[in-house]
Amino acid sequence: MILTITYATDEQRSLAENLAQQLKLDCLPVTDVQNQLVLNVTPTHLEMRDLEHNVAIHVDFISGALAHRRQYGGGKNQPLGKAIGLKPGITPSVLDATAGLGKDSFVLATLGCPIVMIERSPFVAALIRDAIQRAATDESFIPLLKNSFTLINTNAVEYIPAITDDKKPDVIYLDPMYPEKQKSALVKKNMQILQKLLGHDEDTEQLLTVARHCAKKRVVVKRPKGAEFIGNIKPAFDVASKNTRYDVYLPI
Ligand SMILES: C[S@@+](CC[C@H](N)C(=O)[O-])C[C@H]1O[C@@H](n2cnc3c(N)ncnc32)[C@H](O)[C@@H]1O
Repeated sequence: MILTITYATDEQRSLAENLAQQLKLDCLPVTDVQNQLVLNVTPTHLEMRDLEHNVAIHVDFISGALAHRRQYGGGKNQPLGKAIGLKPGITPSVLDATAGLGKDSFVLATLGCPIVMIERSPFVAALIRDAIQRAATDESFIPLLKNSFTLINTNAVEYIPAITDDKKPDVIYLDPMYPEKQKSALVKKNMQILQKLLGHDEDTEQLLTVARHCAKKRVVVKRPKGAEFIGNIKPAFDVASKNTRYDVYLPI
């Protein structure tokens, strides 16, 4: 759980205080806090920092690893693209109902898909919002925004059933937090921090059901290789890669 909004230097104080007010949390200089998970405003970006282990994550759509993936690894033939049904001339609209750090959404957006991201944690949503704001004037990012790359901070289980027919997406994408125990060395830094903040998602089967009632073409669920199907519900087919399996469900 995030307990405090912090700021790196006095120059970020008023930004941090605004965020603290929005999220109804305390606001302190980062040097005054120990051993907590904090949302820390730095001179360049907003980060989620685990002060106990001194590791931090932030989202960067322009210069970080995501931009690298976009440049070198984001082809239409990659498993994620195949799973959502990307084909030459076909770029389905995607509702990413478990946005997290927005990585998968960003890759799909760079492949031309209009994206709506749903994230229920206000703290995780704040990281994405900060990254969108920083990227908004970058010429490589502007076309994505024009095509739709938006974020809604809410619970997808409640949001999806209220979507009207004219707004239904072609594809709903789900990548819930896995309950499976992974060896800690294998869990990446960003997932360790998210796991500490969020635990695992308990409502994934419900999310799959509402998603299948809404998506026009398919629902795609990202799972670790070898994991059980969500709620033991067999998908129509799957697309596998080295460590990941994308289970593809048809609408009901
Ligand atoms: C494993 S992360 C997703 C990572 C993401 N695919 C990426 O590329 O960064 C799962 C996220 O889904 C969010 N989530 C889970 N269930 C949700 C729900 N019912 N509504 C909205 N967000 C949800 C969690 O808060 C968490 O941030």
